[in-house]
Amino acid sequence: MAAYEFIDHTFDVVVVGAGGSGLRAALGCVEAGLKTACVTKVFPTRSHTVAAQGGISASLGNMGPDDWRWHMYDTVKGSDWLGDQDAIEYMVREAPAAVYELEHWGVPFSRTVEGKIYQRAFGGMTRNYGEAPIQRTCAAADRTGHAMLHAMYGQALSRQVEFFIEYFALDLIMDEGVCRGVAAWKLDDGTLHRFSAQAVVLATGGYGRAYFSCTSAHTCTGDGGGMTLRAGLPLQDMEFVQFHPTGIYGAGCLITEGARGEGGYLTNSAGERFMERYAPSVKDLAPRDMVSRAMTIEIREGRGVGSKQDHLFLHLDHLDPKVLHERLPGISDTARIFSGVDVAKDPIPVLPTVHYNMGGIPTNFHGEVVTLAGDDPDAVVPGLLAVGEAACVSVHGANRLGSNSLIDLVVFGRAVGLHCGEALKAGASQRELQASWTDPHLARFDRLRHAAGAIPTSALRLEMQMATQEDAAVFRTSETLESGVRRLETIHGKRADLRVTDRGLIWNTDLVETLEFENLIGQAVVTVASAVNRTESRGAHAREDFPERDDEAWMKHTLAWFDDATGGVRIDYRPVHAYTMTNDVAYIPPKARVY
Ligand code: FUM
Repeated sequence: MAAYEFIDHTFDVVVVGAGGSGLRAALGCVEAGLKTACVTKVFPTRSHTVAAQGGISASLGNMGPDDWRWHMYDTVKGSDWLGDQDAIEYMVREAPAAVYELEHWGVPFSRTVEGKIYQRAFGGMTRNYGEAPIQRTCAAADRTGHAMLHAMYGQALSRQVEFFIEYFALDLIMDEGVCRGVAAWKLDDGTLHRFSAQAVVLATGGYGRAYFSCTSAHTCTGDGGGMTLRAGLPLQDMEFVQFHPTGIYGAGCLITEGARGEGGYLTNSAGERFMERYAPSVKDLAPRDMVSRAMTIEIREGRGVGSKQDHLFLHLDHLDPKVLHERLPGISDTARIFSGVDVAKDPIPVLPTVHYNMGGIPTNFHGEVVTLAGDDPDAVVPGLLAVGEAACVSVHGANRLGSNSLIDLVVFGRAVGLHCGEALKAGASQRELQASWTDPHLARFDRLRHAAGAIPTSALRLEMQMATQEDAAVFRTSETLESGVRRLETIHGKRADLRVTDRGLIWNTDLVETLEFENLIGQAVVTVASAVNRTESRGAHAREDFPERDDEAWMKHTLAWFDDATGGVRIDYRPVHAYTMTNDVAYIPPKARVY
């Protein structure tokens, strides 16, 4: 398009996103001798990994015996058997080495009296195949993500990862099914850029902001997922949205599950520790899907607290003040600021809040993006990789265990570096970028920049957030989900009437939010469409009209394609990997998920 000119760059690898997975992938690619760029819309240490609190899982065995096979069993069971067991084996086996690597890079983990990395209990993490809760989650107080992100950014700088900071990735540059690079807009001077690369790695995080109440930063708009859908590729298992049991009532801010790991517990209006009824053996340390459902039932049945009886209490007031001070300082502050509670004296008002997307861009355990091509359910999309919450590898299946996200970021970030090191040749020649590949991106950018309708982006975004919040909640029925489908169809249609008031190119936050909304709406639509389609209950997808898990019909991954022009969704499936990576461990067959 004549009105815009691109500045071109050539790299071996371009990583989009500078959170835990993006930094780890970029580090690995540089170590493999590849010229690597990291393109990020926020300053790296402001990426959402910074907000991760409770810790990172690994069977170090610092607090008593542990075994990667127990971790594997817990993860498979936690996933409600939708996780791919080859990828799960890869993750849990690599986990201890990944944590020691972080320690050597300077992450200030909390310590045991012997000086070992401190580990706390987390939901669904057990010893000896479900016998009793185990302390497996390595913690830097309750600021583990913050510590990791800063250590990894320092390492990335020292290894000459080339950062492009405050560049907003617009679209993947695709050439007949091959990814050739990514187009981006530099926010502080308005210039447009094309990054040509042998491999693009999407490490753009989740799309929590498709919902109204979430623990995700405002920047969590699933930009990689949006670009993937626009490239004509599917997203996987989008119906599985995790609600974290303990968001602060009214504010949505996270109170770490580590609080329950340190001995905190939930009560209802009768002062009852109700989790004892729902998960008699692990109680408050049940997986998140179960705790969130139990809380919702308590509130629905009139046992909520507060004047509207619409939330519950999390007690830490019985804990030793030393534990609060040393292990939970961050959430003690958060509770004081956002709910006016002194956790040493009073319970925190809490409510399940959207926290994590199990679904995302389908990949294998090397991080390569896969799709369904003819009969091949594992067809690799050349030149495109994805990692972290943006991806669906799928180790979390239908429900992620707390602290399995941080380990996913670094294990699979490292896997991407290893894979690129093996598959790519530094400095190999690349096809020259063609204007026809990027003209549609410019046309879309220009159309949105000059959008002159009647509806401000913020108003349409709020409509979308309310639709998902109300109609694709902890419990779902065909009635609510079909209402969600209709509402989102209408919202998607209203995009034609959007209004962007700032026409500039420099720090145009109105346009940034509009581009982010475009990324969100596609993912909101496929989330609800995938949810209405899956007529069973599994993990975080709880259908009141189909309350049972149905392995016969539904032990498969949903794939959803989105047609942005019509708003239509096409659904197909990939099989769950019902095999392990090595013969060191046997496939874990499905059974009832009792805790
Ligand atoms: O509760 C938490 O600290 C969250 C951890 C996680 O999502 O892994």
